[in-house]
Amino acid sequence: MEQQHFRPTWAEVNLEAIGENIGQMIDKLPENCSMIAVVKADAYGHGAVEVSKKALASGAKMLAVALLEEALALREAGITAPILVLGSIMPRDVPVAVQQDLTLTCFETDWIREVNQLDLPSPVNVHMKWDTGMGRAGLRTQEELDEVAEAMQVSRSVQLTGIYTHFATADEAGLTYFAMQENRFAELWERFKAVWYEPVMVHTGNSAASIRFPDHMYDGIRFGISMYGIYPSDAVRDEQTIDLEPAFSLHSRLTYVKKVAAGESISYGASYTAAAEEFIGTVPIGYADGWIRKLQGMDVLVDGKRMPIVGRITMDQTMIKLDQAYPAGTKVTLIGRQASDIIEADDIAAKLDTISYEVPCMIAERVPRIYR
Ligand SMILES: Cc1ncc(COP(=O)(O)O)c(C=O)c1O
Repeated sequence: MEQQHFRPTWAEVNLEAIGENIGQMIDKLPENCSMIAVVKADAYGHGAVEVSKKALASGAKMLAVALLEEALALREAGITAPILVLGSIMPRDVPVAVQQDLTLTCFETDWIREVNQLDLPSPVNVHMKWDTGMGRAGLRTQEELDEVAEAMQVSRSVQLTGIYTHFATADEAGLTYFAMQENRFAELWERFKAVWYEPVMVHTGNSAASIRFPDHMYDGIRFGISMYGIYPSDAVRDEQTIDLEPAFSLHSRLTYVKKVAAGESISYGASYTAAAEEFIGTVPIGYADGWIRKLQGMDVLVDGKRMPIVGRITMDQTMIKLDQAYPAGTKVTLIGRQASDIIEADDIAAKLDTISYEVPCMIAERVPRIYR
């Protein structure tokens, strides 16, 4: 049964924008280079099932998630496309991946040995991860590569179908570290080709690398943040090589508007005091929705104009200072456009001293996602 929504607070996800962003990226790629849509963390807070369907309909050939749980949720929703699990999976959980036809990440001989002990109905597909400088996961040296390739060659339980690496600085203006990672990858690739003759899918680029260097991208890209219409960094935005449209916006409606006299205070701690007679609106969103207390002082949009958040943000409600008495029910936009003004995920990220990736991810599940 579809969940009913009563609260007048919602995140709107513009699936058309996601389709457009994907289309622009695919147009930049060489013909034989395909897109893996990265839909981990509930599609960066946008809703994994709906985004996955849209991404596949818009030309993505494969999906990537971080967790086995995320992959299973997509299968449960009837999605049959190939799914790559980027995170580490324990050998004992491999039968689930085989049963659900998932592709796992593998880079250790011990892991292969443990999987060899399992009684699997068919081999598990894996992509081999090479750590060329991210420092998170993956094999790093030619010796490790030789060992893992040899273990895979003799394994009946592990079937290699792809190879990948992840860039740590592809979004930065300075490209020295990125070039170093590309070179390390190319060296490992040369070595690998000398010992492995079966075809594999090679993919290296995240959004930043694929937008900036679409011709360096081997067989595929892993497209995440920019599918959602967010630039990986100001450096990539400033290069103006792609015109992304944000897919995520966040809205609510005034539940109560009052006039307060000069000297009256608002919210916990009475930290805000009206300097003169003021109109104060109450908005039903709070820190339990991921609209965290550090956003005090941020602007929201009402009637196409900026209004500041005043006083402390509470668990479920936030107060704003209005320029006039608006009726209850008036729309409040916390992220997104009203008239000619826009508050972007980048603005929220700047206020919170973080990156825009975190913004849609932090909006809690209790804020319903509405699809357009
Ligand atoms: C291994 C891996 N590949 C690709 C991506 C997608 O990166 P982006 O969102 O910058 O496109 C991520 C995201 O964190 C990742 O962890």
